[in-house]
Order: sequence, then C-alpha cells, then structure tokens
Amino acid sequence: MSISQYNGSAMIAMTGKGCVGIAADRRLGIRNMTKACDFKKVFQVNDKILVGFSGLATDLQTLEQRLRMRCNMYKLREEREISIEAFGNLVASMQYEKRFGYYFVEPVIAGLKADNSPYLMSSDIIGAQCFKDDFVVAGDTAETLFGMCESVYRPDLGPEELFEVLSQCLLSGVDRDCLAGWGATVYIMTPEGVRETHLKGRMD
Ligand SMILES: *[C@@H]1O[C@H](CO)[C@@H](O)[C@H](O)[C@H]1NC(C)=O
Ligand SMILES: *[C@@H]1O[C@H](CO)[C@@H](O)[C@H](O)[C@H]1NC(C)=O
Repeated sequence: MSISQYNGSAMIAMTGKGCVGIAADRRLGIRNMTKACDFKKVFQVNDKILVGFSGLATDLQTLEQRLRMRCNMYKLREEREISIEAFGNLVASMQYEKRFGYYFVEPVIAGLKADNSPYLMSSDIIGAQCFKDDFVVAGDTAETLFGMCESVYRPDLGPEELFEVLSQCLLSGVDRDCLAGWGATVYIMTPEGVRETHLKGRMD
C-alpha cells in the first residue's frame, strides 16, 4: 500500500474566470477501515488563499499548523497579508526543508493574485512545484480525477459553473475508489469571498 492510500484522499483545484475552487473528499480511514466522514483537508489562509492537503492525516495537520504559524509571523513582521505567490513558495520550501524525512503530504494551492487573476499550484511530497492554469489533482484518486477533469473542464467558467464542474468531477472520480469519497466539500473563491458547500456522496 502506498502512503497516499493509508488514510485516503481525493482533491481537485480548478480555475475559472476571476475565481478558483478546491474540492476535497471527507473520508478519514486507516487503510481499508473508514473512521470518519467529516475530516477537514482544505484550509483558508486569508481572503485570497485556499490550501488543501492530501496524504497522511497526521502530517497534514502538522504542516497546516506550522504553516499557520509562519503566515501569522509573516503578517506581524511585514504588516500585510502574505501573497499567494509567496505562500506557494513557502509551502514548497517547508517541504523541501524536510526532504530526508518528509511530510507525506501533497499540497494543492488555489487562490487569487493581487489583480484577482487565478493562481494554481500543486507539489509533490518534497516540494517540487507544478504550476497550471486549468486544474490540478492530488491524492489516492488522482488518475480517475484527471480523466474526469480532462473531459469536463472548460476555460473561463463562472463561479456557479465552476462549482458544478468541480462537484461532478470529484463525485464521479471517487466512485471508482473505495479509499476516498464518503462526502465532499467544495470551496469557491471569488474576489467577494469564499463559499463552502458540503456535498453528500455515496457511502460505500
Ligand atoms: C492514517 O493511516 C495510518 C496507517 O494506516 C494509521 O496508522 C493512522 O492511524 C491513520 N490516521 C488517523 C488519524 O487515523
Ligand atoms: C484493502 O482491500 C482490498 C480490496 O478488497 C484488498 O485487495 C487489500 O489487500 C486491502 N488492503 C489491506 C491493507 O487490507
């Protein structure tokens, strides 16, 4: 069993026209055994940054707490919010710092730049960054999600369409993987704010 299958997860981030979104499943398992269906994997850093972590649940929470500390320190020192570009590099460098005993986590970052254009980044477990302008996927279900996204994604979707596309891709993707799914959460970020929606999924 690979590390991404220990606790199971599925995650997609997508860009739209002046908006971005992240969809993640909510299952927490110990290998084949499901423990919870309300596990939080996506976090809002500030008005412009969403970050999702897929991988080992304990490392995910450690990395999230350390990142929150680093962002708070940045805000105190610089007296401004961290930009999405700086945040992307911060995450990658924190992962690379631990490259000989790494966090078993694949982050997915989505947000808006200063001019409200979308920003998307994902990285592997040692922080090799990958920048895309359409969508990124992560987690145990990545292959299936790639297939769904490639056939359904269209550029310049509005927030409502983006929500629909993200939801359908995630729900159909996790149906082919028993280690992820069991409900999902979709976050849509626009310059006006972030909307969080919980979706019901198949419970098997
Ligand atoms: C994640 O999976 C590991 C390995 O199967 C397990 O030991 C651990 O308890 C799981 N994490 C949680 C928070 O249940
Ligand atoms: C999980 O279930 C699958 C399918 O039944 C099985 O092939 C696999 O060995 C199981 N894994 C573990 C760690 O029990």
